[in-house]
Amino acid sequence: MIPGPVTVEDDVLHEMGGPVQVHYGPQFTAIYHETVGLLQRVFKTQGDVHILVGSGSAGVDAAVGSLMAPGEKILVGCNGYFGQRLVDICKLYGLTVAVVEAPYGKPLAPGDFADALAQQPDIGALALVHLETSTTVLNPLAEIAGIARRHHIPLIVDAISSLGGVPLAMDELEIDVCVGASQKCLGAPPGLAPVAVSARAWEIMRARPQRNHGWYLNLQVWQEHKEAWADWHPFPVTMATNNVLALRAGLQSLLAEGLDARFERYARLAARLREGLRQLGLKLFAADEQSSPLLTGVCSPEGVSSGEIVRYLYEEHRIKVAGGMGAELRERIFRIGHMGATISEADIDGVLSGLAAYLKR
Ligand SMILES: Cc1ncc(COP(=O)(O)O)c(C=O)c1O
Repeated sequence: MIPGPVTVEDDVLHEMGGPVQVHYGPQFTAIYHETVGLLQRVFKTQGDVHILVGSGSAGVDAAVGSLMAPGEKILVGCNGYFGQRLVDICKLYGLTVAVVEAPYGKPLAPGDFADALAQQPDIGALALVHLETSTTVLNPLAEIAGIARRHHIPLIVDAISSLGGVPLAMDELEIDVCVGASQKCLGAPPGLAPVAVSARAWEIMRARPQRNHGWYLNLQVWQEHKEAWADWHPFPVTMATNNVLALRAGLQSLLAEGLDARFERYARLAARLREGLRQLGLKLFAADEQSSPLLTGVCSPEGVSSGEIVRYLYEEHRIKVAGGMGAELRERIFRIGHMGATISEADIDGVLSGLAAYLKR
């Protein structure tokens, strides 16, 4: 019960443990295209999706490095550890970074983006984390995307922990590059970063060829190979074949249940957990209406470090939850993940009874 990697279903494990496939030729190419098609349904996009071999951050790195050129200015939302990582990635690509901040535990304010864009007309793109996993806060993506749209500037979204877990419609929101990760709500092991790219993003990349972003995480390199090698090897590198098979199985399970049904299930489980935590007298870190239904942040009781609770739940109950992230929150909160196909009421009740036993002790 950490916020990813999640426990995966048996079918997914079976694919990981099966024979290693050749990564080219008609058989694997068909599997790859099928997996991309499933991802398009989850991203809700008709545009291109690439499956980068790497963790989610590789996808964010590719998004920033491919869309932007050194010296260009980007406006980044930051209200947690992963927002700060996004700022760092932008700086390391040589971008000028303007930051919109909100306190950790609170959502980014759309009005702050509008103000920054009004005051700094040289801002060329906008980037934010959808679900800030370090604080559990779900940022108001639709409103912020509307602001980017009105200013005609491209939008990069880190949807690593939200994709497949809460509603997100890439094309409708006109997101330009949207990044996910295999190990969270897509229900597969870590190792793959699906990256969805809008038609406008390709136009921007083609119009400004002076980028400085290497080869491996260069989305144009991935697109060139997808087009030139479409029928036998639609990616530039040796694909992580078993991971793709596992991801396909995770996506099939998600889509068989139905996106909306899965989202509702998460919402029900989150409500059950939060109600139970309150009954135990525990304080939640973020307001329910501002946090995602995929994980819950709990404040450690006075005088107790969250590390102690994390250790207790694992040692006494074999339940793995996560501590806080970053110096400020590490020992102040713990985070209970409730994402992934296998999560059930029994898991929720198990963690609640483990916490009840801890508090009694
Ligand atoms: C919102 C968000 N962004 C980025 C990352 C980093 O992803 P990865 O560890 O797969 O590189 C995570 C991981 O938890 C995340 O939740």
